[in-house]
Amino acid sequence: MTEQEILFLNQDIVIGLIDLIDRKDVFTAVERAFGQHGRKKVQMPPKTYLNFSEHNGDARIMPSSTDFSDIFGTKIVTVFPENSKIGLPTVIGTILLNSKETGVLLAIMDGTTITNLRTGLAGAVAAKWLARENSSVAGMVGLGKQAETQLLALMPAGDIQTVRVYDLNEDAKFAFKKWAEEEFDIEVIPTDSVKEACDCDILVTTTPVRSPVVKSEWIQKGTYISAIGADAEGKQELDSRLMMRAKIVVDDIVQASHSGEINVPFSTGIISKENIHCELGEVVAGIKPGRENDDEIIVFDSTGLAIQDLAIAMLVYEKALECGVGTKLEL
Ligand SMILES: NC(=O)c1ccc[n+]([C@@H]2O[C@H](COP(=O)([O-])OP(=O)(O)OC[C@H]3O[C@@H](n4cnc5c(N)ncnc54)[C@H](O)[C@@H]3O)[C@@H](O)[C@H]2O)c1
Repeated sequence: MTEQEILFLNQDIVIGLIDLIDRKDVFTAVERAFGQHGRKKVQMPPKTYLNFSEHNGDARIMPSSTDFSDIFGTKIVTVFPENSKIGLPTVIGTILLNSKETGVLLAIMDGTTITNLRTGLAGAVAAKWLARENSSVAGMVGLGKQAETQLLALMPAGDIQTVRVYDLNEDAKFAFKKWAEEEFDIEVIPTDSVKEACDCDILVTTTPVRSPVVKSEWIQKGTYISAIGADAEGKQELDSRLMMRAKIVVDDIVQASHSGEINVPFSTGIISKENIHCELGEVVAGIKPGRENDDEIIVFDSTGLAIQDLAIAMLVYEKALECGVGTKLEL
């Protein structure tokens, strides 16, 4: 391929290539990206948001570069929760890769699958570093696309045997049970309330809500929580009183303050920067401690980092070149 040619990888090809890459390599690539972020070895300005409130949606532009590659990336991801009513995904992403040496565009690829994969892996990397050892019961609140990817990433990395699940939509609970029990050797228990799902070691929240659904009094000592759903201003899944009890680890302090689980308690002054323990990358890099005892409640506030997408997109691009797949385009 000449430098002027651009490799176009559609969703089916990206899915096929991801299947060819060892899951451990993908986990390691995302974990390494977090570590580099903790060591301040990445360029990653905070996401830029465009809001389309008339359609209840938004678009995020996410550029990034790490010091271990000669490629930089940009993702455009859109989040339109009403899309499910017309058979489209809530989250749709596209990733561009460019050369750092010449700026030349190298690849355009579907980023939806990569977004889902990396969001799941962020939760799994955080659980590895922040959950209690031998955590065997997971709780899941919100059972859409992100819940599926969270469980897919969590299962190979941990010892989960039972999953307690809750969704507002009754059908979603049973569909999730059927899927997860077919996929893994686990027991999935649909619950009648969020409270019952919170009776667990690892809680994963993936709802798009703007008013908290998880109350502080439902969370036992020692619980680890992946707070995934809040990724835009005004979104909040966890009661602010829980945030005051918890050790809070964010993926990126600037991004989380504006758009993560902490954005609402931050803007109302309930918590401040002093309440944030550190960024996940600092734990992965060994700069800050993760879990220090079995009683701590730890919340991981995930907003989604461009470097997570870039880490996986680079693996996909390398695999595409190795396999000689994709369509070559010229600008
Ligand atoms: N942190 C990140 O990196 C990241 C990445 C992608 C998506 N997200 C966010 O994750 C959230 C979920 O995305 P998705 O693609 O899974 O959406 P989805 O529409 O597929 O699923 C959301 C699920 O939550 C359920 N739900 C809604 N309100 C609820 C409530 N009060 N109690 C229980 N269940 C409730 C819905 O019924 C639905 O099943 C969105 O807010 C999205 O913006 C975060």
